Amino acid sequence: MNKLITILLLAIAIFCSAIAFPALAVPTTDTAALFTNNCAGCHINGGNIVRRGKNLKEKALKKYGIDSVEAISQLVTNGKNAMPAYKDRLTEQQIVDVSTYVLEQAQKGWQ
Ligand code: HEC
Repeated sequence: MNKLITILLLAIAIFCSAIAFPALAVPTTDTAALFTNNCAGCHINGGNIVRRGKNLKEKALKKYGIDSVEAISQLVTNGKNAMPAYKDRLTEQQIVDVSTYVLEQAQKGWQ
């Protein structure tokens, strides 16, 4: 009987950690996934396959004054020329998250 309880408790522990782990990992992977799913099609590795100069590297963002989370969020929300608007596809929080990710990657040189 004792053995059965031990096995049961073990099973519960494994089950719980399987749920808890992805939940802990969400902030980073989720934001990276947001970028991969929504932006990487045109901005793979921080580039721009449509308009090469308008990439997501720190130098270009500075040059065009899009070097803050607010400025990137606004651009992502409303779109610009060939870049689509995301206000109907992403929540405000997701837009802020993905914009923060872009700025961080730009500062790190998209390594
Ligand atoms: C269909 C292709 C496409 C997709 C998808 C796309 N973009 Fe863009 N993006 C562009 C184009 C084209 C521009 C240049 C706009 C312009 O004319 O100024 C641009 C410009 C930008 C800029 C400004 C770059 C600069 O140097 O001026 C940022 C920041 C940006 N995109 C972020 C994102 C983010 C974040 C996403 C995902 C939520 C995304 N883009 C999705 C095409 C795209």
